Amino acid sequence: MRIVKADRALPEVKRGAPVKIWVDGKQAEAFLGETVATALMAMGIRQFRKTRHKGQPRGVFCGMGICYECLVTIDGVENVRACQTTVQDGMEILTGEGTIE
Ligand code: FES
Repeated sequence: MRIVKADRALPEVKRGAPVKIWVDGKQAEAFLGETVATALMAMGIRQFRKTRHKGQPRGVFCGMGICYECLVTIDGVENVRACQTTVQDGMEILTGEGTIE
């Protein structure tokens, strides 16, 4: 869920322009400046991949590029950290099977 309206404790949210992305073949809306992880979580996706050997679910853990749990495939490039990559118009994101443990 995205913050839509600020209250007194938070500054006003200034959102980037809306863009279309493709997630596992489905079109979705995101906003420039958001990370891929944010866009996926806004869609209700919490599991980004499974581990290669044991098939254990993985998603955002650290949110700052250290743990590598959030790996997805973006525009054909495997093992891209979703929490460190900002969305671009027309970006194709695949969640699912991981290639690392
Ligand atoms: S959530 Fe840890 S690297 Fe992305």
